[in-house]
Amino acid sequence: MSFTVAIDGPAAAGKGTISRAVANRFDLAHLDTGLLYRAVGAKVLEGMQPREAAEALQAADLEAGNLRTSAVAEAASRVAVLPEVRAALTDFQRAFARRAGGAVLDGRDIGTVICPEAEVKLFVTASPEVRAERRFLELTAAGQEVTRAGVLADVKARDERDSSRSAAPLRPAEDAVVLDTSELDIEAAVAAAVATVAARRG
Ligand code: DC
Repeated sequence: MSFTVAIDGPAAAGKGTISRAVANRFDLAHLDTGLLYRAVGAKVLEGMQPREAAEALQAADLEAGNLRTSAVAEAASRVAVLPEVRAALTDFQRAFARRAGGAVLDGRDIGTVICPEAEVKLFVTASPEVRAERRFLELTAAGQEVTRAGVLADVKARDERDSSRSAAPLRPAEDAVVLDTSELDIEAAVAAAVATVAARRG
């Protein structure tokens, strides 16, 4: 039987950690859909056309080592505005969402476009300043040379692009449960998400 948990929200709100924890807790498969856009972005940086890159995407491309860099994040955000790229990635995401045993998908448009019929929809958010600080700590821990101001500017620019694009803009589904993690530590945020899923899972 399928059971889909859709987790959407802006970058660095805690979606990834929450999604992995929910998947573990309820024994569901997990897909970080941002990786699909990042893998397409990485291929575009290597010179491929966006549509061609999206149509040719293979599971192995999601394992590339450079997908977490800011350059690839920026490229991902640019290819994500293209309807032909989004369309090429839709079937894979829908099939994953409906796999037997259930799945958690995290992204920007899972509850609104990919899986409007998901059994649980969460919209995980936090203030731009809190998200930029978290991203700054992650990037510096990974050895990347970035400044706080630079990371905040990137977060705001990506939010703007993700929310204002006409193809599947970032917004909560009407029936999503909104979880603002600005004032929550990760344990509290995970506990709130797990409680929401448990209430639907029965
Ligand atoms: O979540 P992330 O930072 O890995 O996402 C990278 C980019 O891909 C981000 O700018 C938004 C875009 N994206 C999207 O448009 N739709 C999704 N379902 C997931 C990510």
